[in-house]
Amino acid sequence: MWRGLRTALADGDFTVDRVAGLLGPTARAALDRGETTPARRAARDAGTAGTLVRLFLLGDAVPRAEAAAALDPADLDEAVVAGLLTARDGQVAAALDLRPHGDAAIPDAAPWWVLSDLEVGPATGTAGREHVLGTGAASLSLARATVRRPVGTLLDVGTGCGVQALHASGHAEQITATDVSERALDMARVTFALCGLDVEVLPGPWLEPVAGRRFDQIVSNPPFVPGPPQVDHVYRDSGLGGDGASALLVGALPAHLTEGGVAQLLASWLITSEDWTERPRTWLAEAGHAAAPGGLDAWVVQRDVADPALHVGTWLRDAGVDPASPEGAALSERWLDFLAAQGVHAIGFGFVTLRRTAPDVAGTVVCEDLRQSHDDPLGPEIEAWLDRTAWLAQHPGDALLDARLRVPDTVALERGLVGTDEGWEPVAATLVRLDGPQWRHDVDELGVALLAGCRGHLPLRDLVELLAVAHGRDPDELAAAALPVVRDLVHHGMLVPA
Ligand SMILES: C[S@@+](CC[C@H](N)C(=O)[O-])C[C@H]1O[C@@H](n2cnc3c(N)ncnc32)[C@H](O)[C@@H]1O
Repeated sequence: MWRGLRTALADGDFTVDRVAGLLGPTARAALDRGETTPARRAARDAGTAGTLVRLFLLGDAVPRAEAAAALDPADLDEAVVAGLLTARDGQVAAALDLRPHGDAAIPDAAPWWVLSDLEVGPATGTAGREHVLGTGAASLSLARATVRRPVGTLLDVGTGCGVQALHASGHAEQITATDVSERALDMARVTFALCGLDVEVLPGPWLEPVAGRRFDQIVSNPPFVPGPPQVDHVYRDSGLGGDGASALLVGALPAHLTEGGVAQLLASWLITSEDWTERPRTWLAEAGHAAAPGGLDAWVVQRDVADPALHVGTWLRDAGVDPASPEGAALSERWLDFLAAQGVHAIGFGFVTLRRTAPDVAGTVVCEDLRQSHDDPLGPEIEAWLDRTAWLAQHPGDALLDARLRVPDTVALERGLVGTDEGWEPVAATLVRLDGPQWRHDVDELGVALLAGCRGHLPLRDLVELLAVAHGRDPDELAAAALPVVRDLVHHGMLVPA
């Protein structure tokens, strides 16, 4: 049945490009807003692809004969028995979500189709306990943040519909996908079969299915949502309580990485003090032990922070529950009580990247906010961060003074001006990256002068000495003040080795 379906989807041209062309940008944008009529009008008279769009993307009931023709050579009755379709009154409708998917970074890939549960919402109802997510915003944000350097082995923990494994197929030779949910694994197996991918699929919780094994790369979009210690929805709740899922994975993943291997996950942390980094740093201390005899490079970027009410409301709606309904009110009470009892005043969310270093490299831990909006995908930035971190590890302490550095063309200096009796006077200087995550760093006038000299010709030591002479400063003191700033700027790609 699934092989026949793959043929039907390919022959019917139910692909990302064809659907985009068929809908056009206006109907596509309307559909993304939940307005289906423009897409329905565009899909009319659009042949087999139009029928498949109405059936699977719009959720329409379609006459049996029309659906049977569109799904040929897959048998319509078998599709009903397999749970893909429901049949009633001479019509069939989708019982599962089946949609084309793609990755512009893998241009020659065969078309992909992803099977998951139907989206939940006001029109479709609430998610069941075993609900299998489709390719949602969180899934795609992790896919965009994933390092895409060629690797031998890759593990996807909590594969769900299989979307991370799909994206990995462009750069990983062998992929292993695990999930605690049999329903999710059934869907992932179909996704992989439809996409012609050979993936090792293993059932079981967390890292149990791969005990004793190591991978060159690990990705995970786990049930990271902090909440009470119970599972209402397996895609969202780990059952561990609070931020237990993120803590468990950050602590356990390094032991499953080969030397130089990289793990990336979406994660969330409870914020109970002024310093949001407290909890991730505690987990990373444990993770450091797990990485031994190597060290651990870790980059935790906080993308968003929500107060408890926003957190609870967001995740109830995500499961199709109206927070104002009696059910939503009862769930909110329980959830908010739990967070209040833990002293939580906010919940942070973001990406964690871990790299197991060689035994002789101690590793670098950076936890920082990246809450500014930016369009460029994070994956290339994370690759560059890992390279810069390795380079900095090779230039510890004063050794950095021997390096020749330059300010890349994608970095600009912004100046603020205030009006004075003498005219506009500069008050502040900010170094700004115009690409990637758009980092910004305030710099003082000595910093501005030092950066002006960073053209890749002179070692940093010579620049600091020239500056010290020019400003009557002690060169050693100036170097001691400059080095941490320079390290931060290298970490953020605002100074690069010449
Ligand atoms: C947020 S969904 C992510 C699915 C998919 N990887 C994606 O990126 O869209 C989390 C997945 O983790 C699975 N999961 C939940 N608890 C788990 C556990 N203890 N061990 C492994 N997987 C688990 C769920 O069944 C679900 O498929």
